[in-house]
Amino acid sequence: MTDVSVLVGAQWGDEGKGKWVDVLAKDTKITARYQGGNNAGHTLKIEDTTLVLHHLPSGILRQNHKAVLCAGMVINPKALLDELEAIKDYQTVSPANLLISARAHVITPWHMYKDAKQENEGNLRVGTTKKGIGPTYSDKTQRMGLRVFDFIDATKRKNWLELQKKEHKEFADFYSQNSDLWRTFETSADLLKPFVCDAEDFLRKQIKSGVSVLIEGAQGVLLDIEHGTYPFVTSSSTIAANACVSVGMDPRSIKKIYGIAKAYTTRVGEGPFPTELHDAIGKEIARKGKEFGATTKRPRRCGWLDLVALKYARDLNGFDEIFLNKIDILSGFSQIGVAVAYLHPTLGRLTTFPVSAEILKDCTPEYEFFAGWPEELPKNTTFNELPITLQNYVNSIEEKIEVPITMIGTGAGRDDFVERKSKINELRQS
Ligand code: IMP
Repeated sequence: MTDVSVLVGAQWGDEGKGKWVDVLAKDTKITARYQGGNNAGHTLKIEDTTLVLHHLPSGILRQNHKAVLCAGMVINPKALLDELEAIKDYQTVSPANLLISARAHVITPWHMYKDAKQENEGNLRVGTTKKGIGPTYSDKTQRMGLRVFDFIDATKRKNWLELQKKEHKEFADFYSQNSDLWRTFETSADLLKPFVCDAEDFLRKQIKSGVSVLIEGAQGVLLDIEHGTYPFVTSSSTIAANACVSVGMDPRSIKKIYGIAKAYTTRVGEGPFPTELHDAIGKEIARKGKEFGATTKRPRRCGWLDLVALKYARDLNGFDEIFLNKIDILSGFSQIGVAVAYLHPTLGRLTTFPVSAEILKDCTPEYEFFAGWPEELPKNTTFNELPITLQNYVNSIEEKIEVPITMIGTGAGRDDFVERKSKINELRQS
């Protein structure tokens, strides 16, 4: 494992990043999260227990490992405390293994209220998680946000609340009508205070001294606020470059960038999705893949792998390796589609991801089909022992994407994966 690596979701989120963070964390000392908040949901299966983490990087569950929530994150104090409670049987959490950036911004009950109101009553329905993410980032960029540094100081917190009450009548009304929510919110401050520090300074020093750090993204590249399918995106920058911004580190520190992609595609919420399958195959992928949101329980929309989108993700991030996840879910289909281009009614055949969601919504995929594999996959196996048609599928994707595919997820368990000798790496070495 190289000193600093970044792991990014290469699609619309829910690629199964938590599993790979957990796998890679074995060889790292620190896992840091660089954006988003509890809109994320990382599901981990440990023996017979399923744990869902929202703010915490899954590395927190490893022994002698530190987890860091960095400056670019937005944090819901009560939800974070609930998460700590949920993992208490698996890990003892203390300021020695959890560090929270004083620079991160705080999601308040008001932000959650505004998010839900915009979704329920506004003109644009994005299908957000209603966790208050957009309003919190929006206050941050308007320089009106509440930073963790100010939240844990009773006087500064009070000043912020008073200012909001003075500035917005709606806030003042919401505040006075929801005293229980605000009481819990304020109580959380003292409970989280011991974990708060200059996390970025800590990380820079660790990186300088050669400690291995894994920096984990949430959501996915196509939900990036600049480069995603705007406005159907999240409110932070999800791409690998933002890891440097959030940690405040020299961009040259990054030695490896991992892209995590499912062997098919899913999307939650609104927005264009060219390879979406509205038929029985789409439903079957959703059923087998348990494609329901870990955070909101909403059903995920499912479809074939989209190589136009994946190549775009590759170019935005510079993936060194791709981990192809959940290939077991495709077992049993007679043929498997992969989108290699888009066909647009006026723009013709496109091989570049369009600049606007408006163009993308009118694109239909041009597919290449691969023979499927009927059998369920064996456990404890190697790539070469998997069905030959599965191997062909993966080999062909690697050839088209021109990035080594080095790990294949073959099941939900922590150890359900096979390593793959990439043909690209073999060629590079010869
Ligand atoms: P928000 O991040 O809650 O503001 O939601 C904005 C968009 O991002 C919506 O389409 C959500 O469904 C999507 N989204 C947010 N977090 C995740 C995630 O962790 N996985 C997949 N989609 C997400």
